[in-house]
Amino acid sequence: MPYSHILFEADDHGIALITVNRPEKLNALSGALVAELRDAFERVAREMSLRAAILTGSGQKAFVAGADIKELASLSAVEAREYALRGQQAFRILETLPKPTVAAVNGFALGGGLELAMSCSVRFASENAKLGQPEVKLGILPGYGGTQRLPRLVGRGRALEMLLSGEPVTAAEAHRIGLVNAVVPQPELLSYSRSWLNKVLANAPLALGLVLESVDVGLDMGLDAGLRFEAAAFGVSAATEDRREGTRAFLEKRSPAFAGK
Ligand code: COA
Repeated sequence: MPYSHILFEADDHGIALITVNRPEKLNALSGALVAELRDAFERVAREMSLRAAILTGSGQKAFVAGADIKELASLSAVEAREYALRGQQAFRILETLPKPTVAAVNGFALGGGLELAMSCSVRFASENAKLGQPEVKLGILPGYGGTQRLPRLVGRGRALEMLLSGEPVTAAEAHRIGLVNAVVPQPELLSYSRSWLNKVLANAPLALGLVLESVDVGLDMGLDAGLRFEAAAFGVSAATEDRREGTRAFLEKRSPAFAGK
């Protein structure tokens, strides 16, 4: 699919940089843009040479300032439900990728922007970032997963504080409550994200995928079922060449060279 609203670049380390590129509208998510994002997430899933992804926004002001309010304004109830489901499905593809993903939150992450960031494995924010779910100010509620992922990340009380007030939090406050993993100066945001991912990508690729899957599946299970899932995944990891290489390299006091097999 040719892209008009996003940019997609891959570097030599297999890190895809996906940039929401509609800066004149603060990178607001139109339906067409969400369809392109979905295609990009599927590409990251499909292409073996791609091992991780960074999501960011174009310009210095916004990551994504939400779903496109102009489009939202005219939706019927049935259309709005479909609109929410389409976005949820796209973001779920991102969230369940067996590869690590970073939201490099370079400014406003509001509404669908915060929901997009919360669908990544981790979030790094620039010092100027503001994050919030302002939907109630528009007479609606989050439709791309905000009511579900925010309490899972920051707890029910803090999530409800943000969801009910509609007020954004600063990057520093987001860091304090665990909504973002680190805050860095804006010019360093992408290099920080890349260097974090490069450290992660030195680890065994299949083990990374199994960690992502175990955490995702486990969050929707009781502890006993989650522990069983983890044990089964642990068994799978023991059958990989990477397990042989990783344990041997430790015993031989050298760095492992993982093949992802
Ligand atoms: N949907 C559609 N257009 C949006 C948008 C959105 N979510 N957010 C910003 N824009 C557009 C503005 O309409 C404006 O377009 P214009 O130049 O054609 O008038 C442009 O982006 C710049 O935004 P502006 O509001 O002028 O910038 P600002 O610095 O004064 O304010 C924000 C920045 C983020 C505080 C403000 O744009 C805002 O509140 N946006 C909506 C956030 C929101 O409610 N998101 C949830 C949607 S469900």
